[in-house]
Amino acid sequence: RSKLSSQKEKTLGLIKPDAMNKIGQILDHVYRNGFMITKLKMCKLDRNEAFEMYQEHRGKPFLNDLLEYVTSGPVLAFEVVGQNAITNWRKTIGPTDPATARSEAPNSIRAQYGTDKTRNACHGSDSLTSAARELEFFFPSTGPKRRNTAQLSDCT
Ligand code: PPS
Repeated sequence: RSKLSSQKEKTLGLIKPDAMNKIGQILDHVYRNGFMITKLKMCKLDRNEAFEMYQEHRGKPFLNDLLEYVTSGPVLAFEVVGQNAITNWRKTIGPTDPATARSEAPNSIRAQYGTDKTRNACHGSDSLTSAARELEFFFPSTGPKRRNTAQLSDCT
């Protein structure tokens, strides 16, 4: 394989509120698919933070549902490292709609743990630019290192 076809990359993985009771199984998928987790953080996002994180979906009809949902409880953010991690992590997650995932990619995370297009268990950055921006959002290289640490009461 040439260097061009196989690049070691970093991307963002995010377990969404509906799948926080499946953290163990989902992180197991990460390692079974040959990735490493190099950073990890549980957070509860407020609406402004979710809006910043999902800025590429401004103006989309589903944005409000997405923001409501992703702020409804804690999420687990992690840095995923591996060969072609941006594309390959998205493949591991599966198609946006878990119903499609169940027919087209039955071993994927969304096929196994997702419910619908909103409650679809997991997120992966869709490009090099988004990966860099989303990783910086959750794991800032400057400024306060600790933001939005979830309290136990957020989870009960
Ligand atoms: S797009 O328009 O192609 O960028 O959309 P897509 O990548 O399929 O999904 C973007 C994120 O929005 C969430 N979401 C929905 N998508 C489509 N339709 C509906 N109704 C919807 N509701 C929420 C979807 O789960 C994607 O979330 P992330 O976290 O980016 O995977």
